[in-house]
Amino acid sequence: MAKPRQIFVCTSCGSMSPRWMGKCPDCGTWDSLEAHTTDPGAEKDRQKGIVEAWQALAEGDAAPPDAPVARPIAEAGAAEGPAPRLRTGIGEFDRVLGGGVVPGSALLIGGEPGIGKSTLLLQAAGALARAGTRVLYASSEESAEQIRLRAQRLGVESLAELFVLADTNLARLVEQCRRVKPALVVIDSVQMIYKGDLEAPPGSLTQLRRCASDLVFLAKASGMAVALVGHVTKDGQLAGPRLLEHLVDAVLYFEGDRSHAHRIVRAVKNRYGTTLEIGLFEMSGEGLKEVPEGVMGMDAHAEPRPGTAHCPVMHGSRCLLVELQALTATGFLGAAKRKSSGLDPNRLAMLIAVLEQHAGMRLADRDIFASAVGGVRVVEPAADLALLAAVAGAETRRALPAQTCLIGEVGLAGEVRPVGHLEQRLREAARLGYERAIIPKTKGARPPRGFALVQVESVQGLLEELGPAPKARPARSPRVAE
Ligand code: TYD
Ligand code: MG
Repeated sequence: MAKPRQIFVCTSCGSMSPRWMGKCPDCGTWDSLEAHTTDPGAEKDRQKGIVEAWQALAEGDAAPPDAPVARPIAEAGAAEGPAPRLRTGIGEFDRVLGGGVVPGSALLIGGEPGIGKSTLLLQAAGALARAGTRVLYASSEESAEQIRLRAQRLGVESLAELFVLADTNLARLVEQCRRVKPALVVIDSVQMIYKGDLEAPPGSLTQLRRCASDLVFLAKASGMAVALVGHVTKDGQLAGPRLLEHLVDAVLYFEGDRSHAHRIVRAVKNRYGTTLEIGLFEMSGEGLKEVPEGVMGMDAHAEPRPGTAHCPVMHGSRCLLVELQALTATGFLGAAKRKSSGLDPNRLAMLIAVLEQHAGMRLADRDIFASAVGGVRVVEPAADLALLAAVAGAETRRALPAQTCLIGEVGLAGEVRPVGHLEQRLREAARLGYERAIIPKTKGARPPRGFALVQVESVQGLLEELGPAPKARPARSPRVAE
């Protein structure tokens, strides 16, 4: 008989290697390999069983009666028809999910501690329960009393269809599901759930993987939707559950950090909808409030300042107006800092190079800081022009005209390139009180009524649109030699 073999599994990405290493060769995480024992004999036996079964079938034995049968696609699942989605009535949440929770699906909600995962799910559970859908909220981190206190704050404490459970044992949890028969089970959090028959300690990768796959299987077998809450580490990875992302049908992710009032929920995977959608919320005393308006805490009528630029950014089907800010400060040649928050640092570096080469600005010895205000992450190239204007404005201390927004991608040759959804962006900007947009050269661009369009072809064209330079620049203090 073959000897049990030891393998090492990465707790972060799940990759396996035959020997221990300090750093995972796949995901690069340090000190993440855990020893596991496999029994190759058992695996081989199972393999043989399958081959024998195939031979038996070929010789005319019938397939087991309850086994799933392959069918032409037109007949697949046609008997039942699609079950209606569970709409929570929280518009922003339903939108991210593509129209509500799909019955029998598994959902993973990730985010750093304290960002509002429990709050959002308890609110969603409450909204469903209020509409008569039974929901079980199973918390492994808080006691039933603590959940009730939170529910009181959210105004969902007296709903007959909302069941709560404080337990961490998977078998007992499944038993309660069988008893209560909810349409949705919330597991807060999946990292704390354990299976008693596994040797691995609660919270370990083995427990997490087994519990999560059992719960996903439970969802498929029972038709209940299962929502798993997962914590993420500081660097933004779902801790351990990188594996879970493959198991579940949809992964939602709280973006940004706790210091912002806004909470952005983004779908990073969705088998039943698009992954481009975001949901916008604001944390208040009574839980998360929806933010249907497309502004990230700024005002179209604010006094223009050098180093700021406003840009309508598309997130799925919705357009958000985002303020980009930049600051340039004295740095040291060869060691100038380039820091960005909420923006792609590579994009920032590229735009700085474009300003150097095509606008004759000397930025090599300037520290440059750039950020997207409000905690939203801006990744669209359509925000290039705004970011470039912010950096150029900060350096030259020239502000853009009031109530102006910018749309456009900037190419390496200094040209301004057209972007998609131009009309929707202009409409949204006009609705929010902007009166003028600087856009790429576009044939037949139709502005909303009373809205002015300035078309620029190149970076130089943009710089001409910046206001006049201030007369006296505050004197720079002479650099002190260190
Ligand atoms: P929580 O939902 O517990 O975060 P997570 O489950 O992601 O760890 O709580 C988020 C934070 O929001 C917490 O610090 C308290 C705060 N909060 C409010 O401001 N208002 C509220 O109504 C609630 C319930 C929480
Ligand atoms: Mg929580």
